[in-house]
Amino acid sequence: MMYSRLLYFLISVVTMTSCCGASAGDDKIDHSGLDSTMIVLDNMMDRRSVRAYKEMPVEKEKLLAVARCGINAPSALNGQPWQIRIVDNKDIIDGVTEAFVKANPKAASEAGFKNAFRNAPAFMAVLSPSDGSGVFDCGLLTENMLLSARALGLGTCVLGSTTRFMNSDENVRPYLERLDIPEGYQLLMIVAIGYPDESPEAKPRNEEVISFVE
Ligand SMILES: Cc1cc2nc3c(=O)[nH]c(=O)nc-3n(C[C@H](O)[C@H](O)[C@H](O)COP(=O)(O)O)c2cc1C
Repeated sequence: MMYSRLLYFLISVVTMTSCCGASAGDDKIDHSGLDSTMIVLDNMMDRRSVRAYKEMPVEKEKLLAVARCGINAPSALNGQPWQIRIVDNKDIIDGVTEAFVKANPKAASEAGFKNAFRNAPAFMAVLSPSDGSGVFDCGLLTENMLLSARALGLGTCVLGSTTRFMNSDENVRPYLERLDIPEGYQLLMIVAIGYPDESPEAKPRNEEVISFVE
């Protein structure tokens, strides 16, 4: 949070001094747009992976809105190499969880364990071409979903481990079939989604990976 405030400060300074219509002899500064800028930045800087969810279903309209934000991501040559399955069906969540518990009894015995989707009441399955061609595009789609979900008061967690499990466990196959994955497509990534029941702290980021090239 502090970090994003700092960023706002820097942006305000830049905005006031250069890009908002203030010019020599014009002491009126146009702040229009700044509030929404702050909201967008806040959303990015404060998004965290959520691993505890309220036992509350998510409205289908919200799930749909998140998926629609997902497919508004850019894609190479506008190829839109993706499909999304929205799953809030208890049968599927419980069925995959049963298989997960069977395969990972230790993980399932952890305190607070409710399901294989980090206890979320729903998940989004991102499908991409099996030849790997849509992976970058689907990454952009996924981030759009994470940020739009947060804007709607929802928490999310990208679940590589559950994805790998679903793609490999025999007992999950009937549930995978219910995702109706088209020929030539694969399950690329599962994203847990629901109303958050925690507010995790940000993990430190290594700022040294960023540099200007002079
Ligand atoms: C490709 C990918 C796979 C991930 N898989 C898991 C996972 O299996 N389980 C989990 O709890 N979090 C998973 N995460 C979430 C990361 O652990 C998390 O994004 C990272 O620790 C940074 O924390 P933050 O998202 O709260 O900023 C995954 C994230 C990505 C991008």
